Amino acid sequence: MKKKRTLKDVLKDKLPEEIISQINRSFELVGDIAILEIEEELREYENDIAKALLELNSHIKTVLRKDGRHQGEFRVQNMLWLAGEKKEETVYLEHGIRLKVNPATVYFSARLSTERGQLMDKLKAGKRALIMFSGCGPYTFVALKKQPNLERIDSIEINPEGHRLALENVNLNKNLLKHSNFFKEMTEFFKKEEIPYRENTLLSNLNRAKIHFFCGDVREVCKKNLKISEQKAYIEVTDNWIFNLEAKKCFEKLSTYPEPNLTLDARQGFSKETLFFLIHFFDTFSFDLLIDEEKIVHLENDYEKGHLFSIAKKQSPKEAREYDEIFMPLPKDAHNFLDCAFSLAAPNCQVHMYDFVHDEEFPQKTKQRISEAAAKSGTEVEIKEIRKVGQYSPHKFRVCADFVVKKKTLD
Ligand SMILES: C[S@@+](CC[C@H](N)C(=O)[O-])C[C@H]1O[C@@H](n2cnc3c(N)ncnc32)[C@H](O)[C@@H]1O
Repeated sequence: MKKKRTLKDVLKDKLPEEIISQINRSFELVGDIAILEIEEELREYENDIAKALLELNSHIKTVLRKDGRHQGEFRVQNMLWLAGEKKEETVYLEHGIRLKVNPATVYFSARLSTERGQLMDKLKAGKRALIMFSGCGPYTFVALKKQPNLERIDSIEINPEGHRLALENVNLNKNLLKHSNFFKEMTEFFKKEEIPYRENTLLSNLNRAKIHFFCGDVREVCKKNLKISEQKAYIEVTDNWIFNLEAKKCFEKLSTYPEPNLTLDARQGFSKETLFFLIHFFDTFSFDLLIDEEKIVHLENDYEKGHLFSIAKKQSPKEAREYDEIFMPLPKDAHNFLDCAFSLAAPNCQVHMYDFVHDEEFPQKTKQRISEAAAKSGTEVEIKEIRKVGQYSPHKFRVCADFVVKKKTLD
C-alpha cells in the first residue's frame, strides 16, 4: 500500500527541518475551510504551510489563520486568508444539520460540537426553548434535530451577520420539523379527511410557527419584542368563531372565508385538529383570540401566531411567553443577563449558562455569580451541575452551569 504523504514530505525541500518539527499539526476544520493557529516565529513560513495543507487534503478548499483572540461584543476573531479559494463562508455539517457559517464575521466553533450534542440530547418533547446569543444558529438547529417535538424555539443574536446566516440556516434545515409528531399527525389527518394540502407549504408554515430568530440585544429583545399584543374585548360572540364546527365543515368554511382576520374563541383552549387548520392557514389569516371574557389577544406576526400552540393548551399570554429551557452560550458575559433569564423562566425552567472561570475558582465563582443574581431578583434556584466543557487558556476553563429556576418572588 502506498504510504500517505505527510506535511514533512511536502515541506522538506522548502523549509528547514527544525522549522517543520515546530509546526502545530492540528487545525480546526469548518466545512471546507481549515483554520490554523501559527506561532509568531513561524509566520514567515505560513503560506508554505497552508499550501502544503491544501496539497495533502483535497476536501480543504481554503486555509485561513486566526489573527488574535475573540474580541468585542460579537466575539469574532480576525481571520487572515493564507491559501486556496478567497472566501470566508462555507457550509458545515454536524449532528445531521447544515449550517452556513462565516468564521470571519460571526462567532463559530466546530470544537463545541460534542458539547452541543450532549446538551441537546437531554431536551424533552413539548418544551419551549430560548437560545440567547445564538450566532448563526448551531444550538438552535442541533436542538431541533435532537428534539423535533419542541413546542417552539426562539433565538436572539445581536450581530446582524449572525442573524442573516441564521435565517438562511432555517431554509437549509427546514426538513427537521418533518420528523415531528405534530407534522406526521397533521398530514395523516388531512389525508384521512381527504383535505387537499401541499406538504411544502405546511412544512414551511410549521417552521414559521415554531422557529423564531430575533436580531438585537438580549436585554432589549426580551423587554420589547417578546410579547403578544393585548387589548380589551370589544367583540360579542359571532359566527366567525367557527372552531366549534366539526373538522371538515370548519375547513370548508375557512377556505371560503372572506375576512383576512379570524376571531377565535380560545376560552376553552382548542383541539389539535384546530391547530392543524390554523397551521394550514398560517400565512393567509391573522388571528384574534378571545382568551377570557375581558381580553382579546391579537396575534400579529409569525412569533405571536406561534403562541397558538400554548394558547391551545389554555396557557395565558404571559405563560405563552415563558420558557422551559434557556441556553446562554456566551461564557464571557452570560451571568450579566441572568435577570433576563429569570424574568422569562417558566416554573422549573432549566437554565444552561456558560461561564469562564480560573482553575482555582472552579466551581465556586460560577456558583456565586448565579446565587448573587438570583438573590438580587428574588428568585430561588437549584444548581444541578457545573462542568468544565473546554479550556480557554492555560488555567481558564469554559464551564456550563445547569440549574433550575424554582420560584420567583419578584416579577
Ligand atoms: C460565544 S458566541 C456564541 C454564538 C453561538 N451560540 C455559537 O455557539 O456559535 C456569543 C454570541 O453572542 C452574541 N452576543 C453578545 N452580546 C449579545 C447581546 N447582548 N445580545 C445578543 N447577542 C449577543 C455575539 O454576537 C456572539 O455571536
